[in-house]
Amino acid sequence: MFEKKVGRWWAVALAEAVKGDKALAVTCEGEQLALFRNDAGGVFALEDRCPHRRVPLSPGPVKANGLQCPYHGWTFDGASGVCADIPNLRRDEKVPARYAARAFPAIECNGFIHVWHGEGRPHGELPCFGYQAFGPERKGVAVVGLALHDYLDMMLDGPECLLRFPGVQITDFFLGDPRRQGRHLVLDRGAVWTGKGPGPAFVRDYPLWLRTRVPLDGGDIQVELMTSDEVLLVSIVIAASANRRGTTSLCWRGFQRRNPVAGTSLKWRVRQAIGMTLFDVFGAVDGRAVAAVEVAPSIERHAFVVASTSPNPPTFLKKSAA
Ligand code: FES
Repeated sequence: MFEKKVGRWWAVALAEAVKGDKALAVTCEGEQLALFRNDAGGVFALEDRCPHRRVPLSPGPVKANGLQCPYHGWTFDGASGVCADIPNLRRDEKVPARYAARAFPAIECNGFIHVWHGEGRPHGELPCFGYQAFGPERKGVAVVGLALHDYLDMMLDGPECLLRFPGVQITDFFLGDPRRQGRHLVLDRGAVWTGKGPGPAFVRDYPLWLRTRVPLDGGDIQVELMTSDEVLLVSIVIAASANRRGTTSLCWRGFQRRNPVAGTSLKWRVRQAIGMTLFDVFGAVDGRAVAAVEVAPSIERHAFVVASTSPNPPTFLKKSAA
């Protein structure tokens, strides 16, 4: 019996990874799904488990009427999960309606496949609704050896363990307190150009800001590197969801500014001019680096999560979550 969870949209795959006559196996909230498209490009998500003999559906071929199980060849409709075809049935035999795979609402938006997972009818904004690339784009997928809540916490406490910007040092100096924006906690921290000026401990006005937006629930993380004038240099959306055994699935895409910006380092501008990458999201995390990071702003995230989920939150949390 599966645990009932509050429903919400999750971004679970890059749109271009779901193509052709093969399904894509992904994991969302610990549940295995098979994603596939029909001829018209519509995207569908079924539980990656045949209701007949429980084998994975994702290795099976995509047919005109749905996804076909690789074992006995039953075919399941993508929208409803209903079994649309069983080979060798006589003309007068009907497919029993109870032979159905679990279907999940799925939508493509801004280069991500979103799936509704949990209870209730789909509603609300898609996590990657706001993403648009205004410059050279990069993307990637990975499964990292951190549980989802640890990954979200680390994005607040030690983002340098999870991503990097060549020639930029991310510091532990916060430019204000974490603040709530909708269902995200937003934190700005200072960053400096490496090899330029005094070390970060002696800097008063940070030339760069790293803004991280970490969800209180769900898995859509937004990261922006900008100048102190808030001119955007890099913007990344990282969609994270719980995989099995305490790991986290990531799919991300981001873009870097095309035009040079005053005040950026020479190294940065050269990289920009010759089209070299200006950001990276790690597909593997260094456990020792993670262990060395102090628990800091993520405490605020936990406080907001408690405040927003508890029926009787403490008074101080009610106030701060307003
Ligand atoms: S196991 Fe899938 S059709 Fe039999």
